[in-house]
Amino acid sequence: MAISYPATRLRRSRATGWSREMVREHRLHPSDLIWPLFIANGDVEEPVASLPGVSRIPLSGLADKAKEAIDLGIPCLALFPNTPADRRSDDGEEAANPDNLMCSGIRAIKDAVADAIGVLTDVALDPYTSHGQDGLLDAAGYVENDATVDALVQQALNQAAAGSDIVAPSDMMDGRIGAIREALEQDGHANVQIMAYAAKYASAFYGPFRDAVGSTGLLKGDKKSYQMDPANGGEAMREIALDIAEGADSVMVKPGLPYLDIVRMAADRFDLPVYAYMVSGEYAMIEAMAASGAGDRDTLLMEILTGFKRAGASGVLSYHAPIAARLMG
Ligand code: PBG
Repeated sequence: MAISYPATRLRRSRATGWSREMVREHRLHPSDLIWPLFIANGDVEEPVASLPGVSRIPLSGLADKAKEAIDLGIPCLALFPNTPADRRSDDGEEAANPDNLMCSGIRAIKDAVADAIGVLTDVALDPYTSHGQDGLLDAAGYVENDATVDALVQQALNQAAAGSDIVAPSDMMDGRIGAIREALEQDGHANVQIMAYAAKYASAFYGPFRDAVGSTGLLKGDKKSYQMDPANGGEAMREIALDIAEGADSVMVKPGLPYLDIVRMAADRFDLPVYAYMVSGEYAMIEAMAASGAGDRDTLLMEILTGFKRAGASGVLSYHAPIAARLMG
């Protein structure tokens, strides 16, 4: 018999709450979340103006954030340092300093809660360079690939030595996953995972993040010679395939909302966890809508997170993570 009205009425199962609950196809859980935190240089919390509700956290406050996350069932934190201006340089060598803000942040969390939560650390030079680019510049201002990869390897080893559980290269240099994997193996960090920002687009949604890590005023030009063109989808599959071949344990698509098709394609094609990063501009967009009275923040947030899950994401990095985890209760 053909499926047709009135024998088939799709509204039947939507009529009551209990029935909607029964037929729901996707469910959110706090373990789907990764909570990104900015580390302040100094002793006080510093609100980030372009991210209302988000502050840079001083080293002394990180243990409490980690405990809050653990209580909420969030399995992993992602760290980003706001490096002081006098520690930024053309070559970003502060990234390899074992006592930099990032490494101190990792230790602050691991000393307090050990393996009760995972710590994921961003591997890229932009929080450390005086020019705000993710890599080393040649005389013409082009971001050099292979020299940058060498610096990223040092940065990743430095983070692993401090106790990072997952290094997450976000720079989009070619070949960096293989180089970092090999160095981790040789340096005694066989169990340190790599989450590759495999399909990271040159996006206008990173604005508030650059504010938060202090690179807004520094960055000249754009990142289009290494981050991907928003018009390309097939190329994202090539990026992901390469990162898997080089040893990535999981991959990420970034930003999130405008790239749900990429998340779905990746989840269908590859048998490893695919994460999505709901980036700073996406956070700001939700907050702006809520602040203007155009929508309810919590409802918007849960609808969007459900969309990521429906698209096939294994998890989502979100500055809303603690709020979302409470809503999932
Ligand atoms: C740095 C990095 C960026 C983000 C994460 N890692 C910014 C950029 O590439 O310019 C953006 C995250 C966000 O916007 O929330 N390589």
